[in-house]
Amino acid sequence: MKPRILVTGGTGYIGSHTVVELQKAGYPVVIIDNLSNSNVKVLDGIERISGIRPDFVEADCTDIAAVRKLFNDYPGIKGIINFAASKAVGESMQKPLLYYRNNLNTLMNLLEVMGEKEVEGIVFSSSCTVYGEPDVNPVTEESPIKKATSPYGNTKQISEEIITDVINSGAPFKSILLRYFNPVGAHPSAEIGELPNGVPQNLVPYLTQAAMGIRKELSVFGDDYNTPDGSCIRDYIDVVDLAKAHVIAIERMLDNKSEEQIEVFNLGTGNGVSVLGLINAFEKATGVKVPHKIAPRRAGDIEKVWANPARANNVLGWVADTPIEETMRNAWAWQMKLRERGIM
Ligand code: UFG
Repeated sequence: MKPRILVTGGTGYIGSHTVVELQKAGYPVVIIDNLSNSNVKVLDGIERISGIRPDFVEADCTDIAAVRKLFNDYPGIKGIINFAASKAVGESMQKPLLYYRNNLNTLMNLLEVMGEKEVEGIVFSSSCTVYGEPDVNPVTEESPIKKATSPYGNTKQISEEIITDVINSGAPFKSILLRYFNPVGAHPSAEIGELPNGVPQNLVPYLTQAAMGIRKELSVFGDDYNTPDGSCIRDYIDVVDLAKAHVIAIERMLDNKSEEQIEVFNLGTGNGVSVLGLINAFEKATGVKVPHKIAPRRAGDIEKVWANPARANNVLGWVADTPIEETMRNAWAWQMKLRERGIM
């Protein structure tokens, strides 16, 4: 019997895909989520895919009493994967305190309770946003950390520092910091996927909604960047590939395979794809046209960033190898499922 894993934010986009992979790998999971940006029905999707309904506690991780109670009610938690966080870059500029409070208090509460309850390790959801606009691509884990351009990005940098300080102070647990590039797509079953609130801010949910006619057209933010086709370049990583890395990271800490008490990994494909390139890949994969127009640049956007994932490939034995067309097909199937269910 494998030990129990606590997944905070486990009904969210990346969290739900990770819960599926953890359960497939034999880990009993308990989710804590305040449902602020997700839906309890996600548990049904997880159950339909994996045949197991994870334990679920509706509570807020900023409430340390609730976190302590969860550990008493669900004994034997040995690992935590922390997805619970606010994640919209633009919103964080408007509501910085919400972001600092949610993201940092959640993390600090978890670290505090981990110390009390003999939890062995925590996986933290970090972001390529810590590299800002890189001087050189692809970025490695040693690339310089640039000053954050949003409160959201700052919470990721500060969180990495908090974990480092706590571990350096002698805390008995380990941590793996996973720096995600741009997670996209959905589970191939179309049972779970991204559920954006209102008008999507991110490219792929906007793109699939435009393809479905929910939005008039996708705005391509800038075609005058210093890139081959003029649009911005990102490293789009399939959400199921990303989820699998979390299982490997948890296992690594619990099996005492970590080489350092804190380890950092870039999670990307290593391929940079432009906005226009992604539209192309979607159209090719699905045969569905994406109405789009060129629009002005979006303030704060990075021109180009993609990962050097060699460390994750070599050390974790993990590789993001789902072809982008397959990821786009899954994103489209999920969009169609939302339509079928009358959600979108
Ligand atoms: N884009 C468009 N039109 C849209 C939406 C996005 O052209 O309607 C473009 C953006 O300009 C950018 C690319 O698509 O070039 C990707 O944009 P996203 O908003 O999907 O993603 P970002 O790269 O801006 O942000 C993502 C995550 C953040 C994370 C950041 C790190 O959403 O959480 O990567 O760089 F912090």
